[in-house]
Amino acid sequence: MATLLVNGKSVTVNADPDTPLLYVLRDDLKLNGAKFGSGLGQCGACTVVVDGEAVMSCVMPIALLEGKKVTTLEGLGTAESPGKLQRAFIEEQAAQCGFCIPGMMMRAAALLQKNGDPSDAEIRRALMPNLCRCGTHMRILRAVRRAAKP
Ligand code: FES
Repeated sequence: MATLLVNGKSVTVNADPDTPLLYVLRDDLKLNGAKFGSGLGQCGACTVVVDGEAVMSCVMPIALLEGKKVTTLEGLGTAESPGKLQRAFIEEQAAQCGFCIPGMMMRAAALLQKNGDPSDAEIRRALMPNLCRCGTHMRILRAVRRAAKP
């Protein structure tokens, strides 16, 4: 059993402490925003925010999350009422296949929490761990810039 704070809600799950957060999010909590790509901390598709830091949830055991705040894509907004970052990604049509986009958004969310007006170089550096195989990097960059605008 473990109790986690996810998107502002306290949830108790019946999972081994070694279970990666990604599995708990997707399988137990049915929060499917975070994606399984490499499963090895190599692609960033599973990125969520933990206490303000972007974290690859496929390699984060839930035992390390006690008392920490987890935010997933679902915590940024809904399909009916997307948050600012989500709207910016839609407006810039940043997705091609879309598989990397939830992770990109979460890494961007962590950046914008710390730095509300990042330079292009800072955005590029922050998003570097997350891979996009379609090559929509320029649109992703524009979306983060748009989300940063007041
Ligand atoms: S699925 Fe976690 S880094 Fe690729």
